[in-house]
Amino acid sequence: MNAPPYPSAASDGIRQRHPGVDGGCRTVLHLEAVTKTYPSQSPVTALRGVSFAVACGEMVAITGPSGSGKSTLLNLVGLLDRPTAGTIEIDGQDVGGSPERRRAAVRALRIGFVFQSFHLLPHRTALENVMLAQVYTGLARRGRRAAALDALAQVGLSERTGSLPSALSGGERQRVAIARALLNRPSLLLCDEPTGNLDSATTAEISSVLEGLHRDGTTLLVITHNPAVAQRAQRRITIRDGYLTEPPGPQAAAPDGARHVQG
Ligand SMILES: Nc1ncnc2c1ncn2[C@@H]1O[C@H](COP(=O)(O)OP(=O)(O)O)[C@@H](O)[C@H]1O
Ligand SMILES: [Mg+2]
Repeated sequence: MNAPPYPSAASDGIRQRHPGVDGGCRTVLHLEAVTKTYPSQSPVTALRGVSFAVACGEMVAITGPSGSGKSTLLNLVGLLDRPTAGTIEIDGQDVGGSPERRRAAVRALRIGFVFQSFHLLPHRTALENVMLAQVYTGLARRGRRAAALDALAQVGLSERTGSLPSALSGGERQRVAIARALLNRPSLLLCDEPTGNLDSATTAEISSVLEGLHRDGTTLLVITHNPAVAQRAQRRITIRDGYLTEPPGPQAAAPDGARHVQG
Protein backbone atom coordinates (compact mmCIF):
# COMPACT_ATOMS: atom_id res chain seq x y z
CA MET A 1 0.00 0.00 0.00
CA ASN A 2 2.52 2.59 1.10
CA ALA A 3 5.62 3.02 -0.98
CA PRO A 4 8.60 1.18 0.47
CA PRO A 5 10.90 3.39 2.48
CA TYR A 6 13.90 4.19 0.36
CA PRO A 7 14.77 7.65 1.61
CA SER A 8 17.60 9.84 0.54
CA ALA A 9 20.73 9.21 2.54
CA ALA A 10 23.63 10.10 0.32
CA SER A 11 24.46 13.36 2.00
CA ASP A 12 24.65 12.18 5.58
CA GLY A 13 28.14 10.79 5.40
CA ILE A 14 27.10 7.41 6.71
CA ARG A 15 28.60 4.80 4.50
CA GLN A 16 27.81 1.15 4.75
CA ARG A 17 30.42 -1.04 6.34
CA HIS A 18 29.34 -4.58 5.79
CA PRO A 19 29.78 -6.19 9.21
CA GLY A 20 31.51 -9.30 8.01
CA VAL A 21 33.68 -11.63 10.03
CA ASP A 22 36.65 -9.31 9.76
CA GLY A 23 34.57 -6.30 10.75
CA GLY A 24 34.33 -7.36 14.39
CA CYS A 25 30.54 -7.17 14.30
CA ARG A 26 28.79 -8.56 17.35
CA THR A 27 25.49 -6.82 17.85
CA VAL A 28 23.52 -5.52 14.91
CA LEU A 29 20.40 -4.54 16.82
CA HIS A 30 19.90 -3.70 20.48
CA LEU A 31 16.65 -2.55 22.01
CA GLU A 32 16.65 -1.52 25.65
CA ALA A 33 13.45 -0.86 27.61
CA VAL A 34 11.59 0.27 24.50
CA THR A 35 8.07 1.50 25.05
CA LYS A 36 5.69 2.82 22.44
CA THR A 37 2.51 4.61 23.35
CA TYR A 38 0.32 6.01 20.61
CA PRO A 39 -1.13 9.27 21.84
CA SER A 40 -4.85 9.77 21.50
CA GLN A 41 -7.79 10.46 23.76
CA SER A 42 -7.29 6.99 25.20
CA PRO A 43 -3.58 6.31 24.54
CA VAL A 44 -2.59 2.80 23.44
CA THR A 45 0.65 1.32 24.75
CA ALA A 46 1.68 -1.14 22.04
CA LEU A 47 5.14 -2.05 23.41
CA ARG A 48 5.96 -2.26 27.09
CA GLY A 49 9.62 -2.05 28.03
CA VAL A 50 10.95 -4.36 25.35
CA SER A 51 14.64 -5.36 25.46
CA PHE A 52 16.44 -7.71 23.13
CA ALA A 53 19.52 -7.90 20.97
CA VAL A 54 20.29 -9.54 17.65
CA ALA A 55 23.86 -10.59 17.00
CA CYS A 56 25.55 -10.51 13.65
CA GLY A 57 24.52 -13.50 11.53
CA GLU A 58 21.50 -14.50 13.60
CA MET A 59 18.10 -15.34 12.16
CA VAL A 60 15.36 -14.35 14.59
CA ALA A 61 11.65 -14.95 14.10
CA ILE A 62 9.03 -12.91 15.93
CA THR A 63 5.51 -14.27 16.11
CA GLY A 64 2.40 -13.06 17.84
CA PRO A 65 -1.33 -12.63 17.39
CA SER A 66 -2.93 -9.72 15.63
CA GLY A 67 -2.69 -6.53 17.68
CA SER A 68 0.23 -7.80 19.79
CA GLY A 69 2.63 -5.08 18.63
CA LYS A 70 4.48 -6.68 15.70
CA SER A 71 4.05 -3.80 13.28
CA THR A 72 4.89 -1.32 16.01
CA LEU A 73 8.09 -3.21 16.73
CA LEU A 74 8.95 -3.42 13.03
CA ASN A 75 8.38 0.29 12.54
CA LEU A 76 10.68 1.09 15.46
CA VAL A 77 13.43 -1.34 14.48
CA GLY A 78 13.19 -0.10 10.89
CA LEU A 79 13.54 3.47 12.18
CA LEU A 80 10.22 4.42 10.61
CA ASP A 81 8.90 5.59 13.98
CA ARG A 82 10.40 6.75 17.27
CA PRO A 83 9.97 5.02 20.65
CA THR A 84 8.20 6.82 23.46
CA ALA A 85 10.96 5.63 25.81
CA GLY A 86 14.03 3.42 25.60
CA THR A 87 16.91 3.12 23.15
CA ILE A 88 17.36 1.44 19.78
CA GLU A 89 20.90 0.83 18.58
CA ILE A 90 21.83 -0.27 15.07
CA ASP A 91 25.44 -1.39 14.66
CA GLY A 92 26.20 0.12 18.05
CA GLN A 93 24.81 3.56 17.25
CA ASP A 94 21.93 4.86 19.31
CA VAL A 95 19.65 6.06 16.51
CA GLY A 96 16.11 5.25 17.68
CA GLY A 97 15.39 8.77 18.78
CA SER A 98 17.61 10.57 16.27
CA PRO A 99 16.22 13.24 13.97
CA GLU A 100 14.51 11.96 10.84
CA ARG A 101 17.42 12.86 8.56
CA ARG A 102 19.81 10.70 10.55
CA ARG A 103 17.36 7.81 10.90
CA ALA A 104 16.69 7.95 7.16
CA ALA A 105 20.39 7.64 6.42
CA VAL A 106 20.84 4.64 8.72
CA ARG A 107 17.63 3.10 7.37
CA ALA A 108 18.70 3.45 3.76
CA LEU A 109 22.20 2.10 4.23
CA ARG A 110 21.92 -0.45 7.01
CA ILE A 111 18.42 -1.92 6.85
CA GLY A 112 16.84 -3.94 4.06
CA PHE A 113 13.05 -4.23 4.05
CA VAL A 114 10.97 -7.11 2.72
CA PHE A 115 7.20 -6.75 2.90
CA GLN A 116 4.22 -8.99 2.40
CA SER A 117 3.42 -7.10 -0.80
CA PHE A 118 6.36 -7.09 -3.13
CA HIS A 119 6.20 -3.39 -4.11
CA LEU A 120 7.77 -4.05 -7.51
CA LEU A 121 7.40 -1.52 -10.30
CA PRO A 122 5.31 -3.31 -12.95
CA HIS A 123 6.99 -1.86 -16.04
CA ARG A 124 10.55 -2.47 -14.86
CA THR A 125 12.48 -5.70 -15.22
CA ALA A 126 13.68 -7.69 -12.24
CA LEU A 127 17.15 -6.20 -12.68
CA GLU A 128 15.82 -2.64 -12.89
CA ASN A 129 13.63 -3.16 -9.84
CA VAL A 130 16.66 -4.28 -7.84
CA MET A 131 18.90 -1.52 -9.17
CA LEU A 132 16.37 1.12 -8.16
CA ALA A 133 17.00 0.33 -4.52
CA GLN A 134 20.35 2.03 -4.68
CA VAL A 135 19.47 5.19 -6.52
CA TYR A 136 19.53 7.07 -3.27
CA THR A 137 22.97 6.05 -2.15
CA GLY A 138 24.63 7.79 -5.03
CA LEU A 139 26.77 4.93 -6.33
CA ALA A 140 27.69 4.73 -9.98
CA ARG A 141 25.27 2.98 -12.31
CA ARG A 142 27.80 0.35 -13.36
CA GLY A 143 28.45 -0.64 -9.74
CA ARG A 144 24.72 -0.78 -9.10
CA ARG A 145 24.19 -3.11 -12.02
CA ALA A 146 26.90 -5.51 -10.87
CA ALA A 147 25.59 -5.43 -7.30
CA ALA A 148 22.03 -6.04 -8.53
CA LEU A 149 23.12 -9.04 -10.60
CA ASP A 150 24.93 -10.40 -7.53
CA ALA A 151 21.85 -9.94 -5.37
CA LEU A 152 19.62 -11.65 -7.95
CA ALA A 153 22.09 -14.54 -8.10
CA GLN A 154 21.97 -14.77 -4.32
CA VAL A 155 18.23 -15.45 -4.48
CA GLY A 156 18.57 -17.83 -7.43
CA LEU A 157 17.15 -15.54 -10.11
CA SER A 158 20.11 -15.16 -12.46
CA GLU A 159 18.03 -16.58 -15.31
CA ARG A 160 15.16 -14.11 -14.89
CA THR A 161 16.88 -10.74 -14.61
CA GLY A 162 15.19 -9.41 -17.76
CA SER A 163 11.66 -10.49 -16.83
CA LEU A 164 8.87 -8.13 -15.91
CA PRO A 165 7.08 -8.87 -12.63
CA SER A 166 3.98 -9.99 -14.57
CA ALA A 167 6.03 -12.82 -16.08
CA LEU A 168 7.24 -14.02 -12.68
CA SER A 169 5.58 -16.31 -10.15
CA GLY A 170 4.69 -15.00 -6.69
CA GLY A 171 7.76 -16.64 -5.22
CA GLU A 172 9.97 -15.16 -7.90
CA ARG A 173 8.52 -11.69 -7.31
CA GLN A 174 9.25 -11.95 -3.63
CA ARG A 175 12.78 -13.10 -4.48
CA VAL A 176 13.23 -9.95 -6.57
CA ALA A 177 12.03 -7.92 -3.58
CA ILE A 178 14.52 -9.75 -1.35
CA ALA A 179 17.33 -9.09 -3.84
CA ARG A 180 16.37 -5.41 -3.84
CA ALA A 181 16.55 -5.38 -0.04
CA LEU A 182 20.00 -6.99 -0.17
CA LEU A 183 21.45 -4.56 -2.67
CA ASN A 184 23.02 -2.17 -0.18
CA ARG A 185 24.38 -5.10 1.80
CA PRO A 186 22.34 -4.11 4.84
CA SER A 187 23.42 -4.98 8.35
CA LEU A 188 19.89 -6.20 9.04
CA LEU A 189 17.28 -7.72 6.74
CA LEU A 190 13.87 -6.90 8.21
CA CYS A 191 11.03 -9.04 6.87
CA ASP A 192 7.39 -8.26 7.62
CA GLU A 193 5.18 -11.28 6.87
CA PRO A 194 7.35 -12.16 3.85
CA THR A 195 5.14 -15.12 2.93
CA GLY A 196 1.81 -13.53 3.83
CA ASN A 197 0.65 -13.45 0.20
CA LEU A 198 2.05 -16.84 -0.80
CA ASP A 199 0.69 -20.39 -0.92
CA SER A 200 2.34 -23.09 1.14
CA ALA A 201 4.64 -24.40 -1.59
CA THR A 202 5.85 -20.88 -2.33
CA THR A 203 6.17 -20.19 1.40
CA ALA A 204 8.57 -23.12 1.58
CA GLU A 205 10.50 -21.69 -1.37
CA ILE A 206 10.87 -18.27 0.25
CA SER A 207 11.70 -19.82 3.64
CA SER A 208 14.53 -21.69 1.95
CA VAL A 209 15.80 -18.48 0.37
CA LEU A 210 15.79 -16.75 3.76
CA GLU A 211 17.51 -19.73 5.35
CA GLY A 212 20.12 -19.66 2.59
CA LEU A 213 20.79 -15.99 3.27
CA HIS A 214 21.19 -16.82 6.94
CA ARG A 215 23.70 -19.54 6.07
CA ASP A 216 25.57 -16.97 3.98
CA GLY A 217 25.87 -14.71 7.03
CA THR A 218 22.96 -12.30 6.58
CA THR A 219 21.33 -11.10 9.81
CA LEU A 220 17.56 -11.51 9.62
CA LEU A 221 14.63 -10.43 11.74
CA VAL A 222 11.46 -12.04 10.40
CA ILE A 223 8.01 -11.14 11.62
CA THR A 224 5.66 -13.93 10.64
CA HIS A 225 2.36 -15.58 11.42
CA ASN A 226 3.54 -18.73 9.73
CA PRO A 227 4.93 -21.45 12.06
CA ALA A 228 6.69 -23.10 9.10
CA VAL A 229 8.67 -19.91 8.52
CA ALA A 230 9.38 -19.34 12.22
CA GLN A 231 10.64 -22.91 12.55
CA ARG A 232 13.54 -22.10 10.24
CA ALA A 233 14.95 -19.53 12.67
CA GLN A 234 17.27 -20.58 15.45
CA ARG A 235 15.79 -17.92 17.73
CA ARG A 236 12.07 -17.55 18.08
CA ILE A 237 10.60 -14.69 20.07
CA THR A 238 6.92 -14.37 20.91
CA ILE A 239 5.16 -11.06 21.30
CA ARG A 240 1.90 -10.69 23.17
CA ASP A 241 0.23 -7.54 24.47
CA GLY A 242 3.43 -5.57 23.90
CA TYR A 243 5.68 -7.95 25.84
CA LEU A 244 8.33 -10.19 24.34
CA THR A 245 9.12 -13.67 25.58
CA GLU A 246 11.87 -15.97 24.45
CA PRO A 247 12.51 -19.47 25.74
CA PRO A 248 15.81 -19.63 27.66
CA GLY A 249 18.79 -21.39 26.14
CA PRO A 250 19.54 -22.30 22.54
CA GLN A 251 16.64 -23.23 20.30
CA ALA A 252 17.02 -25.78 17.57
CA ALA A 253 16.14 -24.58 14.11
CA ALA A 254 14.45 -27.26 12.09
CA PRO A 255 16.96 -28.24 9.42
CA ASP A 256 16.01 -27.67 5.81
CA GLY A 257 13.96 -30.56 4.50
CA ALA A 258 13.92 -32.41 7.83
CA ARG A 259 11.02 -30.73 9.55
CA HIS A 260 8.69 -33.68 9.28
CA VAL A 261 11.19 -36.31 10.30
CA GLN A 262 11.18 -35.77 14.03
CA GLY A 263 8.46 -34.71 16.41
N1 LIG B 1 -1.01 4.50 14.77
C1 LIG B 1 -1.64 3.95 15.80
N2 LIG B 1 -2.40 4.69 16.60
C2 LIG B 1 -3.03 4.15 17.67
N3 LIG B 1 -2.96 2.84 18.01
C3 LIG B 1 -2.22 2.04 17.24
C4 LIG B 1 -1.51 2.54 16.10
N4 LIG B 1 -0.84 1.50 15.52
C5 LIG B 1 -1.12 0.42 16.26
N5 LIG B 1 -1.94 0.73 17.29
C6 LIG B 1 -2.42 -0.18 18.35
O1 LIG B 1 -1.29 -0.77 18.94
C7 LIG B 1 -1.51 -2.15 19.21
C8 LIG B 1 -0.49 -3.00 18.47
O2 LIG B 1 -0.71 -2.85 17.07
P1 LIG B 1 0.26 -3.44 15.97
O3 LIG B 1 1.65 -3.07 16.31
O4 LIG B 1 -0.26 -3.01 14.64
O5 LIG B 1 0.05 -5.01 16.17
P2 LIG B 1 0.23 -6.23 15.14
O6 LIG B 1 1.10 -5.77 14.01
O7 LIG B 1 0.83 -7.33 15.97
O8 LIG B 1 -1.14 -6.61 14.67
C9 LIG B 1 -2.94 -2.42 18.80
O9 LIG B 1 -3.75 -2.29 19.95
C10 LIG B 1 -3.23 -1.34 17.80
O10 LIG B 1 -4.60 -1.03 17.77
MG1 LIG C 1 0.74 -5.78 11.95
